[in-house]
Amino acid sequence: MSNKLYYGDNLDILPRYVADESVDLIYLDPPFNSNADYNILFAEHDGTGAAAQIKAFVDTWQWDETAARTYEVVVEQGGPVSQAMQAFRMLLGGSDLLAYLTMMAPRLVELRRVLKRTGSLYLHCDATAGHYLKILMDAVFGPKNFRNEIIWYYYNKMHDRRKGLFPNANDTILFYVKDVDSEFTFHQLKEMREQPVKQLARKKFQGRMVNVKDAEGHVVYRMKEDRTIDNVWRLPCLQPAAAEWLGYPTQKPESVLERIILASSNEGDLLLDPFCGCGTAVAVSQRLNRRWIGIDITHLAINLIKNRMQDAFGAKGKYEVIGEPVSVADAEELAGTKPYQFQYWALGLVPGARPAEIKKGADKGIDGRLYFHDEGESGQTKQVIFSVKAGQLHAPYIRDLRGVIDREKAEIGVLISMQPPTQPMRAEAASAGFYDSPWGTRHPRLQLLTVEELLTGKKVDMPPTGDLRTFKKARKAGTKPAATRKLFDKKS
Ligand SMILES: C[S@@+](CC[C@H](N)C(=O)[O-])C[C@H]1O[C@@H](n2cnc3c(N)ncnc32)[C@H](O)[C@@H]1O
Repeated sequence: MSNKLYYGDNLDILPRYVADESVDLIYLDPPFNSNADYNILFAEHDGTGAAAQIKAFVDTWQWDETAARTYEVVVEQGGPVSQAMQAFRMLLGGSDLLAYLTMMAPRLVELRRVLKRTGSLYLHCDATAGHYLKILMDAVFGPKNFRNEIIWYYYNKMHDRRKGLFPNANDTILFYVKDVDSEFTFHQLKEMREQPVKQLARKKFQGRMVNVKDAEGHVVYRMKEDRTIDNVWRLPCLQPAAAEWLGYPTQKPESVLERIILASSNEGDLLLDPFCGCGTAVAVSQRLNRRWIGIDITHLAINLIKNRMQDAFGAKGKYEVIGEPVSVADAEELAGTKPYQFQYWALGLVPGARPAEIKKGADKGIDGRLYFHDEGESGQTKQVIFSVKAGQLHAPYIRDLRGVIDREKAEIGVLISMQPPTQPMRAEAASAGFYDSPWGTRHPRLQLLTVEELLTGKKVDMPPTGDLRTFKKARKAGTKPAATRKLFDKKS
């Protein structure tokens, strides 16, 4: 089976596409707004009064009619999960936290279904809801199948500066197996450490010692030591300057996923990440020769993963994308119902185009960028900027984009639209003139492309750069953590 990337809600995708007992390892990192005020989370809402307050939780869940209906469905199934949910309701009332747990319960049940008898699941969470999730996991998987609470101590995160508490410096990863009585896959992991050794102890450790020189040139003896990795993982969190940082707000470091994948799977095994974000788990699986399935509900994530896979693995990173619009009718539906999702998806039709970071003010009028070099590696970095329009196309959009090209000193601007432009709009675009490349080729400065044209293979008219992706080219994935360039455009 080939690797698969699904766009959609994992609760729809899993029953439809993923067979019973087919997956060796599951990693999930469900979205949770941990910075949200704990008290708000516990507050009961009647669905009206607290609406403004709840709005802050764009990412999370509210106790509303939909949540209440889902709750009923879960409870009506009976069994330990139903009992756990009823207990939560008694304790938490109709709160946002209950809505969150109601969202998680049927997904965890589905995940257990698709897991092989010898498989494992790692649930990434933190202190906000981790204690409830562990009870829920006990209900779904059975307490005897709990293996570890892994503490990921991210020691270099910017401290939260709230007063009156110790700054938080860890996430929690709950590790369960499907059946502790099966021959489940687990490899004890070891790491090699070097310890300074005192003069007297040297003799004893002679065979395992290396000598190195310190800054002043003195010989220092160090002992190489195999240390079994325990449940406290001291791994740095991703910093924006890190090579693997892609700009996805909840992106996890590859080092965390490496440990999970190496411990609980073998080469050729199948990993599933049902909340795959910008694809950390799938990228590490690919690098470690595992097969993978990723699911995400936003086109932004899907778009980022496509770029990440291309940058790190090139043609070797083969996978199938399922659930994206493939026809004009699909695209129209997406444009009508989810204009932002449409934007991310449409940009994905242009290889190498990156969504512009969502910023107020500065980037107004720009939805994406593509950098290129047409003067060789050492030459100047040039750019194509994109504007995407899901709805009615109006003449002023063309004029606006022309202004943005000038403001940004971009070489080319492209307007991607659902609707075809009118003749006067084409004329306006044509009057923007040409970009003349050092190769002597000419390219319209303002180009209008419809989704239909892109779907049928029409390309942006730009200079021959060989590889359009040469801007800060990603290190190819080797045995070391893959360095992938930033996928969001960040204007320096
Ligand atoms: C915390 S992020 C995961 C980050 C990821 N571990 C990484 O390193 O990039 C959670 C992701 O789950 C996705 N998501 C939320 N609800 C979903 C659902 N019902 N089905 C599929 N994906 C969902 C969000 O779009 C988001 O990208």
